[in-house]
Amino acid sequence: MAFAHITGTGSALPQRILDNAGLEMIVDTTDEWITRRTGIKERRIAMIDKNESTTDLGALAARRALEMANVPANEIDTIITGTVSADRIFPSAACMIQRELGAENAAAFDVSAGCSGFIYALEMANNSIKAGMAKTVLVIGAERLSSLVNWQDRGTCVLLGDGAGAVVLRASDVHGGILSTHIKSDGRLWDLLYSEKGNQPPPESLNGLATTPFHLRMEGNRLFKQAVPSMAHIAELALQKNGMTREDIHLVIPHQANIRILQAVAEKLKISMDKFFTNLDKYGNTSSASIPIAMDEAFRSGLMKEGDHVLLVSFGAGLTWGATLLRWSMSPG
Ligand code: UT7
Repeated sequence: MAFAHITGTGSALPQRILDNAGLEMIVDTTDEWITRRTGIKERRIAMIDKNESTTDLGALAARRALEMANVPANEIDTIITGTVSADRIFPSAACMIQRELGAENAAAFDVSAGCSGFIYALEMANNSIKAGMAKTVLVIGAERLSSLVNWQDRGTCVLLGDGAGAVVLRASDVHGGILSTHIKSDGRLWDLLYSEKGNQPPPESLNGLATTPFHLRMEGNRLFKQAVPSMAHIAELALQKNGMTREDIHLVIPHQANIRILQAVAEKLKISMDKFFTNLDKYGNTSSASIPIAMDEAFRSGLMKEGDHVLLVSFGAGLTWGATLLRWSMSPG
């Protein structure tokens, strides 16, 4: 049976930075509160007039991953995009990205699994490679959550940001790459984080922000309490499945929702926070895009080398959560 190896990573972030001081001008909040409760200092906000739609960001991240992997777009068999903020209800972001890339031989579709969208997409990609259905799969996480945010709700608008990340997976007989994936959902708790109809305009200071008639609603405190045990439990499952202990893990790349969630998960797993890659201070919570953006940054900054065991862990709306254990198979540079 084939193994799915990551042979390229890429990411794309909007140019515009909105820091906590900027948010103080929009809602009743402070840099001190946001930093202490979340660890977030700034986030990126996509501007449509700068060609930063979900499709644009996803396609740019994908091009960078394809370039690293040295794979021409016409060799892609499948494009799977994890997203909750595609530019249109249909067609999928994946199909719109397909056109941008000229990936004429691919089948393309989206996966909607909240902030776990990328891990769910990776699971679909891994299974299709293992089953011999595809040899080259492009997996993308792309989001423009600023379009879904209620900019009058300080409980959510301070948390989220825009961006995209992508990986190229290639089939190989060599043992390694994705060692296992686990995904779980609990629909009984869907109403802890969802989108609802709303039409408040965006703040004037964010002129150029394109919004949708839907707003995000969240019960942050209850979500927090679900996130910690769910992420820790599924990470343990990944270790058990592969007969590994925490000492075998070189790097954890978690979904970047809140530094306090990550500290609590690290404590539960008894894995040092030094092994957790975080960049939420710069980008906030970018939902499905957070793990592939982090993976790209970690690899390009030399934090992952061939043979390293890397654990990806996610949690999000649905509720959904998941873990992927990788044996990294690319050398830096
Ligand atoms: O991406 C995956 C899904 N998302 C998550 O997993 C997010 C999980 N939840 C969280 O990260 C945290 O619950 C939050 C960061 C959202 C909130 O932190 P918290 O420590 O749970 O705060 P809280 O919601 O219990 O609110 C505490 C206080 C409240 O005031 P009172 O009632 O104590 O007077 C809020 O009104 O903080 C207030 N508050 C704020 N104050 C200043 C809420 N948001 C803000 C704000 N600035 N932005």
